[in-house]
Amino acid sequence: MSDQLLLEVQDLQTHFFLDRGIVRAVDGVSFGVEPGRTLGVLGESGCGKSVTGYSILRLVQKPGRTIAGHAYLRRRLANGRGGASEVVDLIGLDPQGPEIRRIRGHDIAMVFQEPMTFLNPVYTLGNQIMEGILLHRDVSKQEARSQAIEMLRLVGMPDPNAMVDRYPHQLSGGMRQRGIIAIALSCHPSLLIADEPTTALDVTTEAQILDLMRGLQADLGMAILFITHNLGVIAEMAERVIVMYLGNVVEEADVRTLFREPKHPYTKALLQSIPKIGRKSRSRLNAIKGMVPDPLNIPAGCRFHDRCPQFMPGKCDVMEPEMVEVGPDHSARCLLYGLPGG
Ligand SMILES: Nc1ncnc2c1ncn2[C@@H]1O[C@H](COP(=O)(O)OP(=O)(O)O)[C@@H](O)[C@H]1O
Ligand SMILES: [Mg+2]
Repeated sequence: MSDQLLLEVQDLQTHFFLDRGIVRAVDGVSFGVEPGRTLGVLGESGCGKSVTGYSILRLVQKPGRTIAGHAYLRRRLANGRGGASEVVDLIGLDPQGPEIRRIRGHDIAMVFQEPMTFLNPVYTLGNQIMEGILLHRDVSKQEARSQAIEMLRLVGMPDPNAMVDRYPHQLSGGMRQRGIIAIALSCHPSLLIADEPTTALDVTTEAQILDLMRGLQADLGMAILFITHNLGVIAEMAERVIVMYLGNVVEEADVRTLFREPKHPYTKALLQSIPKIGRKSRSRLNAIKGMVPDPLNIPAGCRFHDRCPQFMPGKCDVMEPEMVEVGPDHSARCLLYGLPGG
């Protein structure tokens, strides 16, 4: 694994084995996340963004299974001196075993789109934050409670001394998402996987939560894998971006390059699908020509060829493109920029 990376995912494959066939949800995905930086994961619904996040944390449930690939994580050693670290391949770990449990919440935390699927309705917010603190740190209950209150203050919760004793149903959507972030960050993870964390929120609350996440990242120095279908959110949050289509990464670049000089026809189509008004603020992906193909029937050749305005018959429907350099630190999976093996 590269020295500069916190997480390096190589050729990850997670498939769902259904009676009707195999859904190749994540089908050879590779990327790297640097410590303290944000990598955006962009793509339409169903292209494998969430399954990528779940695969890294080994949370994929049957009939899904990660069948190949690596996810190397550089871990700080608790008693290591001078920033000593070790590298673990998360894909090599038992998904139910103690190592991955320790890594979840300690090294990597995840926040999801819908806070209520994550918050336990029968425990107070404070208890749910304290649970993580007590699990990973050697502190008294009293100390964990004051750390929980401090965490709520950090995520901008009004009146944290009172909120710590509230139940999830007593909180608004924005407050719940702040609560989730407090739970996620209470163990100071080195990586936060944020899967559409603001998609369920109104525009004003979304802006506040994104500001909060950027601020916390600056304070705590964690890296973020930021998953979204929203180009405006990507522009605000990410430094580098990978664009996914049907289980593949089809383009990778820094965020400015991606917006100024997109190379893959899919990325170009995504950018053109934004209405011009509100381009900077909150732009969702409009429909691109055609539908995302049925993941049980992935097209031969380039997976995008049947929707592509630059389709080259006899090539794109036959040859599978590889990722090729199209500029400095910029690559795309498209036959316009190079034939496989050529
Ligand atoms: N539990 C499951 N069983 C079968 N197919 C699934 C399951 N979870 C996800 N998939 C399929 O995997 C593909 C990728 O899904 P997902 O990662 O959730 O997409 P995204 O997050 O990009 O919207 C989709 O085709 C989806 O239908
Ligand atoms: Mg998703």
